[in-house]
Amino acid sequence: MSKVTVVGAGNVGATCANVMAINEIADEVVMLDVKQGVSEGKAMDMMQTVELLDIDTKIVGCTNDYSKTANSDVVVVTSGIPRKPGMSREDLVGVNAGIVKSVCDQVLAYSPNAIFVIISNPMDTMTYLTLKATGLPKNRVIGMGGALDSSRFRYYLATALGVNPRQVEGTVIGGHGDKTMIPLKRLATVKGIPASELLNKEQLDKVVADTMVGGATLTGLLGTSAWYAPGAAVSYLVESIIRNQKKVIPCCVYLDGEYGEKDICIGVPAVIGKNGCEKILDFKLNEEEQEAFKKSASAVRTMNSVLNQLGVIA
Ligand code: 2OP
Repeated sequence: MSKVTVVGAGNVGATCANVMAINEIADEVVMLDVKQGVSEGKAMDMMQTVELLDIDTKIVGCTNDYSKTANSDVVVVTSGIPRKPGMSREDLVGVNAGIVKSVCDQVLAYSPNAIFVIISNPMDTMTYLTLKATGLPKNRVIGMGGALDSSRFRYYLATALGVNPRQVEGTVIGGHGDKTMIPLKRLATVKGIPASELLNKEQLDKVVADTMVGGATLTGLLGTSAWYAPGAAVSYLVESIIRNQKKVIPCCVYLDGEYGEKDICIGVPAVIGKNGCEKILDFKLNEEEQEAFKKSASAVRTMNSVLNQLGVIA
């Protein structure tokens, strides 16, 4: 009997719960929210689709009752506020850090063996906060950012190439920030053909630039953070854990020397299975990529230092 809890039944949380339910990734999906009735209402609405969609997932909603989340295999944390147009993800740290810490403390008490998947922004720093605040082993705290950014990278590459996005390979590493993420254009391919052979420098650089602000572009259009691709990316990651698929997914994980960095959570390719982050694929970056990664890590560390100022970690 597999169980996944999603804390935060907002756009992203509810979408990832719905995608997991439709794909029957877990036997039970629990949504918890602080706002009275929201998670219950969305769970009931989803349960009214089970016959129509021929699914057996049990979907439960609860307002702030953490006992309903007990013995979850995976806990997805989407709590906190999303950004508004013109805001960076980093602008949210002052509000979201305290919320994420409180949520993790409460949910961990009922699911001491859970693997944590962090979505709340600024995601790299919220992942680091969760790891430090809970004291969980580093393989059981994973931030979701790279899966989403890589999916946007593939979308922009496919659009520029005029091909099916499902036949494009593209990986984004580094921080999940408008200025910190690193779409690896050198390794982008379509059916094994290097994208750099098919697009000129200007076209490829535009794909990279569009990817980096892919989230902000949607926030400008929607007036709030996106939710369909983030929700689907969470479900993709959780599925690899629950079904032990060992998919290689760019995730925000704790580095202890890999890529030349220590004591930081940041996006790198990782093997994701039933034990969470089971292996980090530490491959050689070229000089330009290594430089960008160092800069990205430095920006994430600066954001992490705010956690001490906020008093959420010692
Ligand atoms: C995004 O990039 C919410 O950070 C998420 O859309």
